[in-house]
Amino acid sequence: MNHFQYKGAELFAEEVPLKEIAAQVGTPFYAYSHATLTRHFKAFDDSFAGVPHTICYSVKANSTQSVLKTFINLGGGVDIVSGGELYRALKAGVDPKKVVYSGVGKKDDEIEFALTTGILMFNVESEQELTRISEIATRCGKNAGIAIRVNPDVDPGTHPYITTGLKNAKFGITIERALQEYTRAMTLPGIDVIGIDMHIGSQLTKVNPFVDSIEKLKIMIGTLRAQGIDLKYFDCGGGLGIQYNAEEPPLPLDYGKEIVAATKDLGMHLVFEPGRNIVGNAGILVAKTLFTKSRDDKNFIMIDAGMNDLARPALYDSYHGVQAVNKDQDGVIVADIVGPICESGDFLAKGREVPMFKQNDLVAFMSAGAYGFAMSSSYNSRPRVAEVMVKGDKFEVIRERETIEDLIKGEKIASFL
Ligand code: LLP
Repeated sequence: MNHFQYKGAELFAEEVPLKEIAAQVGTPFYAYSHATLTRHFKAFDDSFAGVPHTICYSVKANSTQSVLKTFINLGGGVDIVSGGELYRALKAGVDPKKVVYSGVGKKDDEIEFALTTGILMFNVESEQELTRISEIATRCGKNAGIAIRVNPDVDPGTHPYITTGLKNAKFGITIERALQEYTRAMTLPGIDVIGIDMHIGSQLTKVNPFVDSIEKLKIMIGTLRAQGIDLKYFDCGGGLGIQYNAEEPPLPLDYGKEIVAATKDLGMHLVFEPGRNIVGNAGILVAKTLFTKSRDDKNFIMIDAGMNDLARPALYDSYHGVQAVNKDQDGVIVADIVGPICESGDFLAKGREVPMFKQNDLVAFMSAGAYGFAMSSSYNSRPRVAEVMVKGDKFEVIRERETIEDLIKGEKIASFL
């Protein structure tokens, strides 16, 4: 069930007309549907019913407290990539034993923070990182659960910027080196070798790359077992895609079936780090038309949201559906929908057939729940926008719109000026 639907000419989020939110909160704003977040989390979780598993939602996709809390309430853990994400997740009430920590550049203070918090496991991405975690754990008198993030050298068939499991990517450790590192890890103080990890890319629309990677890791697990190294956790990463436009990604259930089939003989506890799949289609960005202009055969619709609010089109040329919040336009037009930022890359839709928006119309950008607000910035000194969560016929602001005073928070004029 889609929770962003028209009732008559009006676009709703669940039972709330978006124009009502705009009237109270102003524009632009992100709106999330609680029912959709919940349904997506449960669908993913249910796909692994019957096998021991933990869903560690990938905080980077959308790190807003209320979004985290929604999944934590459903029994979810988190995949973090920084001390900041750990702090957010703890504030939202995550169980530290359901936290996995990925990332190629963990700093000493972040490692120590995670150790003292008592997270489940560090997904180690380099030889030096392993040594460093051992040193810090020893100094703190703690033990670090670790998995090695293996780079299986499998092409996920997605955008180059979000491909992570090919040999030339900065992520993980190659299979041969990882095997050596497991043997070394067993000898290191402060290290508990408990898992194996992969994450091969994002927005995958096929299951085979996941399965191909799992097969490679299974051979490793066999080799390690023969050496007496028995791992409990198999972290399959995130990456399952969603429909933005014409993509046909597998349903979580079908993804689940194939992953379970590929891993069932191992008897391991599965960990997943989904981000986009759960939040992507649970959120939209709503903006307002400021002006329109036409020049030769080109039409522009200028809105009050820009690439600083939703960076994906500028960064990856990605597609977000465009819908009128009130369908009272006189037909359609081929246009660029652009923001106020002083860059030509500042577009949210390019050369697209869209409703013939007039001044002050509200425009909804669909599928913006993942890597939307989380990647936003205040570039051009534009305060970051408000976020609201809708549940049934109610909504609440879950992040206040930044003020212009917020923009200079922490700044000071140098004393010599
Ligand atoms: N685990 C790790 C280690 C990751 O690096 C990522 C995403 C995930 C899990 C979650 O992947 P997901 O399930 O969301 O595909 N900004 C880009 C996406 C970057 C993905 C980075 N890593 C975009 O807007 O498309």
